[in-house]
This record gives sequence, structure tokens and C-alpha cells, in this order.
Amino acid sequence: MNIKSIVLALLALSMLSGCTENSTSSTTATPLVTQSSASNDTLKNTMQVDKDYHSFANPEAVRVTHLNLDLTVDFAEKVLKGTALLEFERVDATATQLILDTRDLTIESVKAKGKALDFELADTDSFLGAALTIEIPNNVNKVEISYQTSPEASGVQWLTPEQTAGKQHPFLFTQAQAIHARSFIPLQDSPQVRVTYKATIRTPKELLAVMSASNDPDTERDGVYEFSMPQPIPAYLIALAVGDLHFKAMGERTGVYSEQGILDAAAAEFSDTESMLIATEKAFGPYSWDRYDLLILPPSFPFGGMENPRLSFITPTVIAGDKSLVALIAHELAHSWSGNTVTNATWRDLWLNEGFTTYLTYRIMQMIYGDERFEMEAVLGRQDLQADIDSLAANDQIMAIDLRGRDPDDVFSNIPYEKGALFLRELEHKVGRDNFDQFLLGYFDNFAFKSITTDQFLSYLEQTLLKEHSDKLSKQRIEQWIFEPGVPEGAPVPESDAFSVVDQARNDWLTGKIQADKIDSEKWVVHQWLYFLNNMPETLTQAQLADLDSEFSLTSSPNNEIAHSWLLISVNNWYQPAFSRLHDYLTSIGRNKLVKPLYKALSQTPEGKVMAQKAFAEAKAGYHPLTVKANQGFVE
Ligand code: BES
Ligand code: ZN
Repeated sequence: MNIKSIVLALLALSMLSGCTENSTSSTTATPLVTQSSASNDTLKNTMQVDKDYHSFANPEAVRVTHLNLDLTVDFAEKVLKGTALLEFERVDATATQLILDTRDLTIESVKAKGKALDFELADTDSFLGAALTIEIPNNVNKVEISYQTSPEASGVQWLTPEQTAGKQHPFLFTQAQAIHARSFIPLQDSPQVRVTYKATIRTPKELLAVMSASNDPDTERDGVYEFSMPQPIPAYLIALAVGDLHFKAMGERTGVYSEQGILDAAAAEFSDTESMLIATEKAFGPYSWDRYDLLILPPSFPFGGMENPRLSFITPTVIAGDKSLVALIAHELAHSWSGNTVTNATWRDLWLNEGFTTYLTYRIMQMIYGDERFEMEAVLGRQDLQADIDSLAANDQIMAIDLRGRDPDDVFSNIPYEKGALFLRELEHKVGRDNFDQFLLGYFDNFAFKSITTDQFLSYLEQTLLKEHSDKLSKQRIEQWIFEPGVPEGAPVPESDAFSVVDQARNDWLTGKIQADKIDSEKWVVHQWLYFLNNMPETLTQAQLADLDSEFSLTSSPNNEIAHSWLLISVNNWYQPAFSRLHDYLTSIGRNKLVKPLYKALSQTPEGKVMAQKAFAEAKAGYHPLTVKANQGFVE
């Protein structure tokens, strides 16, 4: 055996052991094929493509259909406490057990018709949590579980008043995607299982609760809030936030919730949301979710945004004052179609959510802001994709990724997003935009409120677009996009004229032809700055950095994306004048996409690591559990 085959064998073994430990029923004894050459057919021999390897639940036998929550929010103890009533149907009439997912939950009792039921909480798996198996008598079709969460729940962040903008009141928010709903509700935490839900949330009187459900902007602030989500949604879209929240309308169906201090700025920044909603409906079919509101969270929110239905959760770091970062809103809005209406069946199929959404995002940006903006964003997206392709292992470049034995949190990359979007753009280019839009309309309609696998998408594509345009599309090429690493040769190449001038300026400056003060950047927009910075050579001299900084005040850029790019350059070139801002940045923002590359870069040198350790130690108490998990390896 050579080294490579030993490594592969070990890898296969470790993935297999994860798989055997975690799955509740059929496990396979056939070794996994992990090489990049693994074709879909080979994989199918070892993998059940419609099985959710990240849930213990048994929806194939007993399927939960409705959830009724009654929870008290206890800020002093940092726990949610109360009951979850689960209604279910027997898919298998002979089934005697309901199996749910949990993580760090204390289960006090399980009852049906007033009587206690037997239940068992299994041993805890490191990232899947613990199966809760409930014995269900024949005549029972709902169970009431009394439970409470742990203060360390992976899907909940509890903020002290000092960690909020207003400093007066505590704050709480949940983040369930991918497999964290189970840390605050015992349920079938699989995107294949959709439930309608109702909730009663009890909070301190002076606070307001909002959920991914009906929210009445005029509700009385009395500490008891009722919600209803009448459309069936997967567990990862259940969300709750509680704080000193206020509301401002932006349009007829759109508005924003946030702490008072940033409410006006947020409403101004995102004032195009209503137009985005109208334009998206016009192009891709009716919006199914009644209102579309935004909730602006404290800066510790670990993502840019989260598409919780009717109420997207949004990082405040995109409030730039000039709408330069509002593609994020287009993105979360687009998920109302791709993701929330048509959902991935397993986390392997995440690209169906994120790839379609990223494609729609570009289209929305083009409809609202025009071609130039669209082209710049497409080029930047393509560059992000290339960076990942250059750094990720071949298997991690596959859109329909094999995640068995892996924590979805550890596998976050641009592949499902930008590669997915590029694939759809290629389809669009080949069949023409009108035809492709017709296809998308039909797709969203056909699979509305369903959770589908990559294979279901493929067979739908075969019966529709591929059949109608067999002269322009080939199944083989489509499979190459979905099941093979990298980007197929001949893929669309986004281009932007607005970036040519930036390339020219960067070159002239790098070759010493001009000083920074001669760069004609007065009319540059944020995207041009990002393109300017992101394409600098790896090494710059201190004099070059000082020249740029003194001319453009990059260290004090108020734009969090520009600041990010600049700080990364500063770390990689040890440009000390930026380090005080770097420390402030790392200790005031918890959005993982912005802080993780900085921690990673700092961890490359002993001096950098000391700085990272200092910032991390200071920030940790205010970071979200996911941000802590993603970065602590860099400071150990
Ligand atoms: N649904 C995602 C966030 C997510 C993905 C959370 C997977 C957990 C697991 C959200 O819609 C998203 O993609 N956010 C991006 C937005 C960006 C691509 C515009 C983010 O947070 O950076
Ligand atoms: Zn997304």
C-alpha cells in the first residue's frame, strides 16, 4: 500500500465510522468512494441519495406534520422552557415509535392524552446530538413534550444588555440552519420533514418577540406573543428573536425590525426591498409568504443573512450607507422561492437552495440596479468561487457533496453558491433567457412546498429543459457540473468593463508608473474598490501600503467589506498601522465570513497568533457559538 492509498483508506474508514455511529437504520458496509473520480453511479451504490444522514428521525415511518410551541424566555437562566406539542401521521401503520432529534435538551416528560409516555434519550453524538425515541400507543397522534434548552444551545445566542446597541435590554436570537433547530426544539430536524407551526412566546413585558411566522407590526408589547406559520416549512427555517425591537414600514408588504438606534438607517439602506419583491414575483412567480420583513440583528449574528420565512435575519454589517451591500437582501428574499418554497431534501442537496438563490440574486440585482452592477457582482462572485476551487480538496468542489460523517457547519464554501449559479447561468445562456425563465417558473410551481433531491431535480430537468432543447444541452455536461470537481471548461466567464479601469490603475500603481494620488478613483464604487484590493499581489511593501492608506484612508474605511479586504492584506503583509482597527473589527463583528479569514491569516505566524488570541479572548463572550466553533482552532 502506498501512502496515498493508506490516506484514502483511513479517510474512508473515518467517514464510514461517522456514518455507522450516526444513522439509525440502514448503514452500508461497502467502503465509500471518496476519490474525485467518483461518479454519481458509483456513489449511488454506497449512498442512499434521499436519506438524510444528519437526522436520527424516522419520518419514513412516523412523520410530524404540525408543531405547537409554548415557550418562556428566561434571560436570567439563559434557557427556553415549556412545551412542544407535535402532531404526526403514521406513514407505516404498524409503527410504534416516534424518533426525534435533540441536542443538549432536558426532557422533563412526554405525554399524550394526559398520560405519560415512555421515552428514551440516546447517547449524544458529537455533532448530531441525541435521538429521542418515544413509544406511541396506537390511538395517539400527538405528543406533548415538556423540556428546556441548555444555556449552551448551539442554535441560540443570548446577549447581555451590554452586547446590544441600546445597552438597556438583553437580546436573544436563534439560528437553526443547518442542524441546530434540535438544540431548541425536540423535532424531526430534517429538511425532508415540513411542519406548520403555532407558537406562544412569553418574554419580559418590555421586550418584543418575532418569529419566522406571521408577525403583526402593531402588536401590543405585553410579553405574550402568538405566532402562526400556516405553510409547511422544514425545521431549519423555524426562528425566534427577542429584544427591544421596533418596527418601521418600508413598503406595503415590507418592513424592518431592529433596535431603535439603527432602525432609520436600516429602513433607508434596504428601501428597495419592496421593489425587489415585486420584480422577483413578476419574473419567477407569486410570493407565497404574505409579508416580507427584515430583522436586523446585533453584529454577533454569525451569517450575513438567514432566510427565515416572512422574516429574514440580517447582519447589521451590511448597512453601509450607500446600498452597496444590499445583494444580501436580494439573496435572502430570493430564498423565498429557492429554499423556502422548493427545499433541499438533504444537506447534500444544499446547492439546490443556494445555487438557485445565488442565480436569482444576480437576476434581481440586474433588474433593480442595472447591468453594470450585475456584471461587477458576477465577476466578484466568480473570483470567490475560483479561490475556493484553488484551495479545496476535489471532493469538496462537488456540488452534490457527500457529507456522510461530516458536520455541515464545517463544509461551508462558495461551491453550492457560485458554482451552482454559474451552472444555471450556463443553462440560461444555452437555451435563452426567456426559455430559462419559463423553466424556473415551472420548477418553482411544480415543487412548491416540497423537499427534493439532486436526482429529482435532474429527472425534472430531463423531462423539461433537456427534452425541449436536446440540441443545446447534454446530460453528460450537466452531470459534470453537478458531480465533478472544478468548473467545466467553456463555462460562462463574467466580465465587467467597470473593472478594466481598475485593472489598469492597479497595474500602473504596482509598476510604479503612478503614485496612489494619481489613481483616478473619485467615481469608484464599493465593488471597484473590492476588486482593486482583492486582486493585489500577495506581497506589497510597507511603502506601498502606506501610500494607499494615506491616500484612501483604507484602515478607517466605514465599509465592512472594504475594511475586511484591506485588513486581510494588512495581516498578510504585517502592516502594523492597521492593527488597532483590526482588533476593533474582530471584537465588534461576529459574522464568520468576515472574521474567519482574518483569524486564519493571523494564525500563520507566531506574532499574528498572539494578536488573534488577544482579540478572540476579548470577543469570545460576545461571539455566537458557531463563530466560536469556527475560529477557536486558530487561537489554540
Ligand atoms: N441560508 C444561508 C445561510 C446558511 C447556509 C446558514 C448554510 C447555515 C448553513 C443564507 O441564505 C446565506 O447564504 N447567507 C450568506 C449570504 C450571501 C451569500 C449573500 C451569508 O450569510 O454570507
Ligand atoms: Zn443563501
